[in-house]
Amino acid sequence: MSIQTKITTPFDDQKPGTSGLRKKVKVFQQPNYLENFVQSIFDTLEEFQGKTLVLGGDGRYHNREAIHTILHMAAANGFGKVLVGRGGVLSTPAVSHLIRKYDAFGGIVLSASHNPAGPDGDFGIKYNVSNGGPAPESITNAIFTHSKAITQYRIWSDTEVDLDYLGDSEIGNMVVRVIDPVYDYAQLMEELFDFEAIRALLKGGFRILFDAMHAVTGPYAREILENRLGAPAGTVLNGVVKDDFGGGHPDPNLTYAADLVARMWADDAPDFGAASDGDGDRNMILGRKFFVTPSDSLAVLAENGTCAPGYARGIVGVARSMPTSQSVDRVAEKKNFACFETPTGWKFFGSLLDAGKATLCGEESFGTGSDHVREKDGLWAVLFWLNILAHRKTSVEAVVKDLWAIYGRTYYARHDYEDVDSAAASTLMSELRANFATLTGQVHEGLTIKLADEFGYTDPVNGESTIKQGVRILFVDGSRIVFRLSGTGTSGATLRIYLERFEPNPSLQHKDAQEALADLIRIADTLAGIKQHTGRQAPTVIT
Ligand code: G6P
Ligand code: ZN
Repeated sequence: MSIQTKITTPFDDQKPGTSGLRKKVKVFQQPNYLENFVQSIFDTLEEFQGKTLVLGGDGRYHNREAIHTILHMAAANGFGKVLVGRGGVLSTPAVSHLIRKYDAFGGIVLSASHNPAGPDGDFGIKYNVSNGGPAPESITNAIFTHSKAITQYRIWSDTEVDLDYLGDSEIGNMVVRVIDPVYDYAQLMEELFDFEAIRALLKGGFRILFDAMHAVTGPYAREILENRLGAPAGTVLNGVVKDDFGGGHPDPNLTYAADLVARMWADDAPDFGAASDGDGDRNMILGRKFFVTPSDSLAVLAENGTCAPGYARGIVGVARSMPTSQSVDRVAEKKNFACFETPTGWKFFGSLLDAGKATLCGEESFGTGSDHVREKDGLWAVLFWLNILAHRKTSVEAVVKDLWAIYGRTYYARHDYEDVDSAAASTLMSELRANFATLTGQVHEGLTIKLADEFGYTDPVNGESTIKQGVRILFVDGSRIVFRLSGTGTSGATLRIYLERFEPNPSLQHKDAQEALADLIRIADTLAGIKQHTGRQAPTVIT
């Protein structure tokens, strides 16, 4: 039994995107593909000899094989211990929590988040640093650079490890500790939220549904919602983890969480519905026949959050990604706490959370979280909402409408054009960029453009700068259109158009969002030539 050094040749496409390296399973199944990337991670890191690594994935196809390989490579590279979830399964927020709780050196998450799974689906790998959050760009860029020049990797000769039983075993000098994937996370949730109040709410007849979409949150939701909070059996839908996620697309939005949406719009709908994604970091919150936009959800938490024990100390600041609506900005302004605008990608929140500048963070892409971990956290958001509802003793819809009554409503929608031709998408973006100067001052459908630019960001804590983070068209009345190319897709390009308009007048706050945004939708096409460039008549997904 020994360390083996294997000769390899580089792949040129191992550049991590918004959230790690994501590719088709078939790409990851190529000989040495995963090994090269993992060795590139380890070669980029320093001083981890003898230290602890956390390892787990969302249970999708190829998870076990990848865990087996990574364990053997971690042993050969000198890690002292790996904490791995039973069955190789851990949700993304659970990995983040375990890294922090057990002072691990870092962690590896195997997931392609909400992208479909199975032999023809996607796979992904992401490295998280010692604060529990995704590695910053300085590290992901270094990993990519290394991957282009790699010549060898180290792996321990094949050793049997049983991932299905809790306890310790060894690969060489490294301890492999198989842990309960749910326990530590569930304990943390009990510390943050008033479980007694939520239990009483549920006992009083408040009905909830949670759709785990056959992905990683099933066991977490069953333990927390059904076992610990006493929700009736059956509260968790699609709660069994399947390696193809049941053939579905585990993205909690109105399009893909169709089962849940149908139940929440039925006449006997429960009071509260929620869903999470493949790896458990996203959330969608629904009331009876009522959808809460992720941007408004963040604002609701900022407005009501101190009723939860974990946040009773107060909220020091909030952070949102640039395309997320400005709904939370108005709460921050009135309550006098800081509000940060960052590029898309959870990794940009890490430094603000570490520095104690922000307590809550959120993104329009159904991500909400706080300083309890360094990832967004789907079930955490669900429990936060339940805590607020237990405290306010009212409906989801009433909580959101109260927010609008105080601060005004921010109508919001995102239109995605998925899998469009990459060249056409880049041309669309560069034509917009070329027109910045002439756009300012133009009037379309009665709305005047105040500024057209491309968002860039300098982190106020570590000074790292990022450019080209989305084209913004800002209007004088506060409306916005943002154009961005997704950084998480695995085929072609995905064009995202984010539309937003502020409505302070309560009598005009009850329209359908697409209707209220119709003029901005038309302006977006006029300015960018969406139909002409993409050849599409309508978006693939509207959220
Ligand atoms: C992942 C990241 C998020 C990000 C989202 C959308 O889920 O963790 O932080 O908002 O991807 O990214 P995209 O580049 O596809 O718009
Ligand atoms: Zn995810």
